[in-house]
Amino acid sequence: MKITKICCIGAGYVGGPTMAVIAQKCPDIQVTVVDLNEQRIADWNDPNPENIPIYEPGLSEIVSEARGRNLFFSTDVDKAIDEAQMIFISVNTPTKTYGKGKGMAADLKYIELCARQIARVAKQNKIVVEKSTLPVRTAEAIKSILENTGNGVQFQILSNPEFLAEGTAVTDLLNPDRILIGGDTTSEGQKAIQALVDVYANWVSKDRILTTNVWSSELSKLTANAFLAQRISSINAMSELCEKTEANVSEVARAIGMDSRIGAKFLKASVGFGGSCFQKDILNLVYIAKSYGLNEVADYWEQVIIMNDHQKRRFSNKIVQTLYNTVADKKIAFLGWAFKKDTNDTRESAAIYVADDLINEQAKISVYDPKVTRNKMISDLDYLETRNNQENSSYLETLDNAYDACKDAHAVAVLTEWDEFTTYDWKRIYDSMHKPAFVFDGRNILDAKKLEAIGFIYQGIGS
Ligand code: UDX
Ligand code: UDX
Repeated sequence: MKITKICCIGAGYVGGPTMAVIAQKCPDIQVTVVDLNEQRIADWNDPNPENIPIYEPGLSEIVSEARGRNLFFSTDVDKAIDEAQMIFISVNTPTKTYGKGKGMAADLKYIELCARQIARVAKQNKIVVEKSTLPVRTAEAIKSILENTGNGVQFQILSNPEFLAEGTAVTDLLNPDRILIGGDTTSEGQKAIQALVDVYANWVSKDRILTTNVWSSELSKLTANAFLAQRISSINAMSELCEKTEANVSEVARAIGMDSRIGAKFLKASVGFGGSCFQKDILNLVYIAKSYGLNEVADYWEQVIIMNDHQKRRFSNKIVQTLYNTVADKKIAFLGWAFKKDTNDTRESAAIYVADDLINEQAKISVYDPKVTRNKMISDLDYLETRNNQENSSYLETLDNAYDACKDAHAVAVLTEWDEFTTYDWKRIYDSMHKPAFVFDGRNILDAKKLEAIGFIYQGIGS
């Protein structure tokens, strides 16, 4: 079966970039991305490609090449489902905030809504592709909904998890380490797998396209994220030990990373990992393990989250202790709010939790982030429900450049590893601050010796 029309439900951080790259690489496939959020679709259709709602290096260029040719953004979900032979589901699956599995299980209500909508609209056979990260065996639920509420047409469900990281989405999509496609072992299942393999084969070499059964594919995504997050919690655990000894965590990471069995990536100690996936996926894994009665397995993985929460809290505690055990009415400048550089995404960013702790101590926070808006920062704090919107707004000041954010501050805290922070005139920042002037480098990106020579008291992570 040759695919000529694709629909993707969900124009978010995953659906948007993934579909843009498929459209760019497969000019003979019409790709329509739909979303319930009208503003989001309007933003994707903004005549100026610089204004698309997601910031990713290289993305606006791809959108401007493909949009209107074979890439479309629309709110007409039914029409796009009806026309497509293949439908990707790329809606968000947040951690449940209510009921059974609250705080752990994935909330699948949006996935179910999508499945029901597809079942209602579809008049021809369709291949449905899970792009969202889902608990193992979700495909089964989707299948049951489709088969029992549909119009008698045939559905094939594939799992095709996304491994792109934000900030490098475009290069990850263009040059993936691997593409994973899980499907049924029946001959119809195999045909559906082949149809999706053929789409990716337009730009990915065949030896990088793995096919498995559905459950292996679903579980591989959770496992990959759990392993990556575990490396960060492992090195962060060592960072605390380094601070108590004379060891330096960057040196330790370098020494172990040169062991080819360990490898050098994902060994950067930090104020803690964030992002929409790591915590959610591990909690999901923990929940699944518990639901099968596998308590040791659940506890083992939960420790990765416990360590990460500890690392964030430890960072804010260190700031308070170092500033003579009081930060009340002191101004603390934050450089960065995003969960990592090169993205405007702030979901689960360590900055939110550190700010919340410091505001509890009545510190005034003044933030500069090159890509995150004030509204986003305030709503991130509101979401924690520690204080109301008015209080959060009064404690959090936002500036459009770092020099103004740091002026009259007692301390600077680096929360995101944006490259531009390393290029600043730090002497000028020092001169504008209260003395003694402290730098808490939550990302170990600044040159400690240079800052100390200027007069700063510098504290990185793990040294
Ligand atoms: C993705 C994945 O899909 C998720 O499983 C993964 O684990 C995290 O990343 P992401 O693209 O980052 O989600 O989420 P988001 O940026 O919130 O985009 C989801 C979009 O789906 C939103 O624009 C939302 O409006 C839309 N949506 C949600 C629908 O169109 N219909 C719905 O029923 C629900
Ligand atoms: C992650 C996975 O990498 C990706 O494959 C998956 O599809 C989605 O989840 P993402 O969350 O976008 O991607 O970013 P990632 O680069 O993995 O970073 C996650 C967090 O870990 C960030 O807060 C980052 O700053 C932090 N991190 C990363 C560290 O603290 N140290 C490191 O060495 C690496």
